[in-house]
Amino acid sequence: MALISWDTSYSVNIKEIDSQHKKLVAMINTLYDKINEGHKKEAVESVIDELVKYTFYHFSFEESLLAKHSYAELSKHSKFHNEMIEKIKFFMLQLQRGDQDLSDEMLSYLKSWLINHICTEDKKYADYLNAKGVK
Ligand code: FEO
Repeated sequence: MALISWDTSYSVNIKEIDSQHKKLVAMINTLYDKINEGHKKEAVESVIDELVKYTFYHFSFEESLLAKHSYAELSKHSKFHNEMIEKIKFFMLQLQRGDQDLSDEMLSYLKSWLINHICTEDKKYADYLNAKGVK
């Protein structure tokens, strides 16, 4: 069973952003599977590396869209993104140092961060952009 199941209530009603969020959900589920199936440290790190790269891409895409439409809360939103990136980097470093016990904590963090962020912060800009016709 997947760690996170996409729910239509997570939609921000912007096709490309929903697609990127779904990909993030899929990547976190893949990470969950790799860890639970007992894959080697290198395989797990490789998945985290891909997740970090895609997360960077998503945040950058989202922030560019918000900048393009003069979203007033952009810097606050960007701060949430940066905090998440720092946290993932921290988990990655700890795992590289051999602290495998962090896996559960990391997965729990990723799951709750993504869902909470989409359902609170992303939904705030969604209303704003949707009202401007961005869908
Ligand atoms: Fe979809 Fe603000 O991350």
